[in-house]
Amino acid sequence: MKDNPRMLLAKNGVLPSHLFRPEIRTSWQCCFNLGLDPYDKPRLDTVSQSALAQLREQNELVRHLALIEMRNLQQQIAGSNFIIIFANRDGIILDEISEDIATPDTTASRTAPGNIWSEDIKGTNALGLVSSSCEPRIVHGSEHYFEKYSDLTCAAAPIFDPCGEMTGIIDATSDCRSRQRHTLALVKMSCLTIENSLFRNCYMEKLIIEFHNRHEFLGTLHSGMLAFEQDGSLVRPNRQANFLLQGIPLHPKAHFNEIFSTPFDEFLNSLHKSLLVHLTDTKGSSFAVKAFNFYPDRFYNISVNPSKKTIKRLGMVYDDPEVESTVKMVERAVQVNAPILIRGETGTGKELLARYAHMASDRKGDFVAVNCSALTETLIESELFGYTDGAFTGAVRGGSVGLVQQADKGTLFLDEIGVMPVQFQVKLLRFLDRWQIRPVGATVDIQLNIQLVSASNSDLTEAIQSGKFRGDLLYRINAVEVDLPPLRERTDFNLIVKTILETLDKPPQLEMEALELLESYHWPGNIRELRNFLTRLSIFTGVEKEIICAKDVQSLLRNLPSKISEKDKRGNLAEQERDIVLYVYARHKGNISAVARELGISRNKVYKKLKEARPQRS
Ligand SMILES: Nc1ncnc2c1ncn2[C@@H]1O[C@H](COP(=O)(O)OP(=O)(O)O)[C@@H](O)[C@H]1O
Ligand SMILES: [Mg+2]
Repeated sequence: MKDNPRMLLAKNGVLPSHLFRPEIRTSWQCCFNLGLDPYDKPRLDTVSQSALAQLREQNELVRHLALIEMRNLQQQIAGSNFIIIFANRDGIILDEISEDIATPDTTASRTAPGNIWSEDIKGTNALGLVSSSCEPRIVHGSEHYFEKYSDLTCAAAPIFDPCGEMTGIIDATSDCRSRQRHTLALVKMSCLTIENSLFRNCYMEKLIIEFHNRHEFLGTLHSGMLAFEQDGSLVRPNRQANFLLQGIPLHPKAHFNEIFSTPFDEFLNSLHKSLLVHLTDTKGSSFAVKAFNFYPDRFYNISVNPSKKTIKRLGMVYDDPEVESTVKMVERAVQVNAPILIRGETGTGKELLARYAHMASDRKGDFVAVNCSALTETLIESELFGYTDGAFTGAVRGGSVGLVQQADKGTLFLDEIGVMPVQFQVKLLRFLDRWQIRPVGATVDIQLNIQLVSASNSDLTEAIQSGKFRGDLLYRINAVEVDLPPLRERTDFNLIVKTILETLDKPPQLEMEALELLESYHWPGNIRELRNFLTRLSIFTGVEKEIICAKDVQSLLRNLPSKISEKDKRGNLAEQERDIVLYVYARHKGNISAVARELGISRNKVYKKLKEARPQRS
């Protein structure tokens, strides 16, 4: 009884200093001085529905980013019966999510959107402590001032906006038996993730550089970010940047040249070659650096004139917004000689686009295509980099010029780069560092000037995770990354059919229904498969008739891999829409306007879809 802190406080008016951590003790004292009775039922203060709606609107961006992150957090601590809360800086709960199994008698029934959890109302609690101290806090069991809350455990941390102001709080609360040691660390990580998304969102129009001493840490919470104006003056560092660049003045308007020892314009130039570069700060620490929002035309005023003629010459046609923006990106990239990575399923036209890139670049040299999956491991080096006379037994007399060198002043197309042997990736990386090669047996390097285009039909980030592809190589080859959509997602199916038919010897004519039937097939082999199919179709029917009807198509389609059924095609339309919105939303890092723009729908509709996607409380 004599150690019961509530009784001691009531009796003496102060807590002995051996009880609790200092921040808890101070808070208890505060609550006591405010006249709160620890044995009372805590007050339930709630803002009105309309005030809640208003608060949510005021916190629109951070709230939406928080909701995404709360779901991630929920997965990380799943099974421990947590409620995850997003509150504004004053400790007013704006949202909460919980697992379905929330027990009605403990946590769930105590918190709800609109509730105010400030210290002066709810006594010592994590949310309230963060609100008053702007520091991460954990309050466990009987550390809660009110006895009624001594079965709870809460961990909460602040979210800061890019200007360093606290803009919200994330809290994870559960009954204290499920206390997890790492909860606070996970909550803090969630807050950092939200902060970084806020940062990217705020400075979408600025050049952002992400940096870390070790390139493996780029893209993680450990890397720092700096936003710069076009003239190289600093707009803002993020929290981690302050940490990584300790001792270097990062005040607003500090110039890039005061932070790093490489001049700003030289840095921009190096971004043309690769968006991953290395910089040394003015105190001598070196960093791997990746740039975002680097639009060369904005920095250099480059005009781009799409050359429809070359497109025609190549037989490449399109009338699809995604393909169009892909082609535009490629045109810009070749103007500044930036390495391009084309992603797309097999047969979507990656090689054709690479050839187009070469033509659009007006480079005088050759287009050299290398299929990385066909290179044998033993010969790969000599095939690519060449060799000198007598470099090894069996070598051709007089030596041989490698494929890479053949592309000098032209374009090197590395197809299926994802399957390149890992040992060779290191050598390629070295080449891309300085664009110099040394043929097998040679003693000096040869400087080359190459437009690099790579293609992959697999997800390279997955290959990186499984150790089959080097992350640092990806940064070198994907200064500009573009996607070619699969045929079934393109809006210009008819145009493509028409174009292919025109190239055939005896082009047959297609009835409308035949065309519709073709369009309903899912074409796993994309345009290549379609071309083969139409060729077969013309041979098959050409002898007897010139007009092809649905039945002709049907009988040939039967030989193809299983057709997508009508039901699958329709699927659950609402669900598909929701997934698309979520996907684009994540890609735009929570920027609602950008999502609405990209999808051509209203901001309201975006909100509606996001709301549908949120897990519902039971
Ligand atoms: N936009 C297009 N218009 C017309 N034909 C195309 C288009 N894109 C691709 N093709 C044709 O489709 C086939 C496969 O193209 P390719 O570039 O080899 O695809 P990938 O390299 O992605 O497998 C080729 O016959 C190509 O000419
Ligand atoms: Mg190909």
